Amino acid sequence: MMTGRVSMGLSAGMAVVMAGFLGCGFATTESGPGALPKDVVEVVAAPDVPPEAVAELPPGDPGSGPWQVQGPADWSTNSGLKPRAVHVTWQGDPAHTVTIQWQTDTAASDGYVPKVWIVPAAEAGEGPDGTMPFQDARVFTGTGFTYQAFDDVSPDGLVDRSQWTVEVTGLDPKTAYRYRAGTWSAFDKAAATFATPDLSPVQDVRTGREPGDRSAFRFVSAGDSRTGSDKIRENAPRLAQVDADFWLFNGDMTEVGSQPEWDEWLDAMSPILATSPLMPIQGNHEVFADLFYYQFAMPQIGTLPDDMKEHGWSFTYGNMHFVGLDSNTEASVVAQKDWLDADLAEASIDPDIDWVVAMFHHPAYSASPSHGSTQRVIDNWVPIFEKHGVALAFAGHDHDYERSFPIRASQKVEDGQGPVYVVVGGFYSPGYSAGQDWWTFVSHHGDKGNYAVVDVDGKNLTVTAYAGYGDEILDTFTLSK
Ligand SMILES: [Fe+2]
Repeated sequence: MMTGRVSMGLSAGMAVVMAGFLGCGFATTESGPGALPKDVVEVVAAPDVPPEAVAELPPGDPGSGPWQVQGPADWSTNSGLKPRAVHVTWQGDPAHTVTIQWQTDTAASDGYVPKVWIVPAAEAGEGPDGTMPFQDARVFTGTGFTYQAFDDVSPDGLVDRSQWTVEVTGLDPKTAYRYRAGTWSAFDKAAATFATPDLSPVQDVRTGREPGDRSAFRFVSAGDSRTGSDKIRENAPRLAQVDADFWLFNGDMTEVGSQPEWDEWLDAMSPILATSPLMPIQGNHEVFADLFYYQFAMPQIGTLPDDMKEHGWSFTYGNMHFVGLDSNTEASVVAQKDWLDADLAEASIDPDIDWVVAMFHHPAYSASPSHGSTQRVIDNWVPIFEKHGVALAFAGHDHDYERSFPIRASQKVEDGQGPVYVVVGGFYSPGYSAGQDWWTFVSHHGDKGNYAVVDVDGKNLTVTAYAGYGDEILDTFTLSK
């Protein structure tokens, strides 16, 4: 059920001032609330339909009866219920599931039923306006919650949001799907009327590889946008053509993580988010951590403490195992150690897994004078990475590009004898200088921007780092087993 509007003594402006007071380069996060606590919506599968409203309904709820319909491409008639910020993560197995999330502006009516209609792209038809038939679509119902976020625009500094999450399961691996997200009919109790369908445009998503599938795939690793949403907006259509199976994002998407910033970031990223799942972790600039975790559904690791659920996660994709970690504080780093050790121990003896890649925000090794290396990561996680054969570790925080030699026991070693540490922290954030130190193999100032494309082909893994503008290659290297 929904909460009523609550008067708070903290305005968005004050919240931002607080965040600003912490300083632009603060090393750890003092997470504060960016929103009032969320309120879980009771999703009712079949809301009561008053007889007088039936005549106003569309010809039926796709998935609930035999019927056919196509398009239009954007079937939204109620701007308050129009799905926005549609994006995809994986809470479960990437080969057989996708988790689709979106928001609606207004607090949901009691009758809002978040749904995803999904069909294999090969069966979806090729309508000129991006339409898809519903008659064979599988329908999935999800969960939702409402919250009021602080902003600088609304008269009382609070904006209503509803967040919807649908986990689609039972999909075939390595398959292109076409889907629409939204609701078919939402009953507004106060007005005693139905809203008509409010669906996202048709969107595409691909499922991933099963463990042990050694066919080639590509992903992108990026981090640190901060105030760069306008530059993302300029470059995202081009970057969406990279044709990555998915994106990793190592934190600092925003300056403080307020709702208006998230709206900007998710909108600017939409060409990428419409085609690729994106797996993020929290940076120190997601000060309003609640909003980050509200908007991204991640795997729930049972052995992590309750307050760390979704802060650390892992998944296996083909022959590669990925782990994402919250490096924000000493406490968060220590809290993930036992799980990390157990997770990587399991991965290291799994015959289906050739490669292990880690991602976190604060770099273990960085020569940038802005932040530099992170001792709590070196002390707590690096020995675990070395013990279990992590090949690559991506981080950001320093807005530059750096690649280390392979490192083991705080020394340069031969290829394959220790993890390679890559700082890729220039996804349109203000650039920092890169510096040089004993571990430095390659370094570039962050003014050029950067992101890394990783091509995995069986036992060869090639990383190509690009500047953020144009096609300039900053670095390329291959690791082989
Ligand atoms: Fe950072």
